[in-house]
Amino acid sequence: MRRLGPILATAAIAAVSLAACGKSQTSEPAQETPAATAEQAAPAPTDEEKQKILASLPAPYNAADLANGEAKFALCRSCHTITPGGANMTGPNLHGVFGREAGKVEGFKYSEAVEKADIVWDANHLDQWLAKPQTYLPGTKMSFAGLKDEKDRRDLIAFLMVETGHKPQ
Ligand code: HEC
Repeated sequence: MRRLGPILATAAIAAVSLAACGKSQTSEPAQETPAATAEQAAPAPTDEEKQKILASLPAPYNAADLANGEAKFALCRSCHTITPGGANMTGPNLHGVFGREAGKVEGFKYSEAVEKADIVWDANHLDQWLAKPQTYLPGTKMSFAGLKDEKDRRDLIAFLMVETGHKPQ
């Protein structure tokens, strides 16, 4: 893949030049764009990598619909960030949540219910938590009624695994 880089870049530049010939010459620096974009995009997982992570998840998460999971995350977005180093808002940042003990994000003030929960977040715990937070950890200050649909929870949990840096073995 690496050795193909220069060839692809050359081809891309050629394509841009060709396209530019056909139209009126508007912006010349456009030739630099293909290589620069490829470099900047490197750290974030590509769609292909996300599909690979998805396929490596245990059943039933490997069959999840990531687009639906992302749509359901709209219910959480007002209170939670998921990016590395993302801010704590009403709720704590969720990056790296899988495999982490509940109530451990630095600088976030949890309820006693979560702080003393003594659980390590995995898909199973999250599934029960998201179905009805107040029943799963009574006294929590997360005001979210719950996600009733089992399939929606599956899709959302798979989306979170893919997006929060969960590492497949
Ligand atoms: C109205 C704001 C709000 C919404 C909406 C919300 N949360 Fe939360 N969430 C919180 C708060 C506040 C806490 C801390 C709870 C506590 O300390 O009792 C929390 C805690 C959590 C935790 C535990 C984190 C840890 O570090 O132990 C997870 C996981 C979580 N939320 C996931 C979600 C997901 C997924 C959704 C969407 C389905 C969601 N939350 C929706 C406010 C919210």
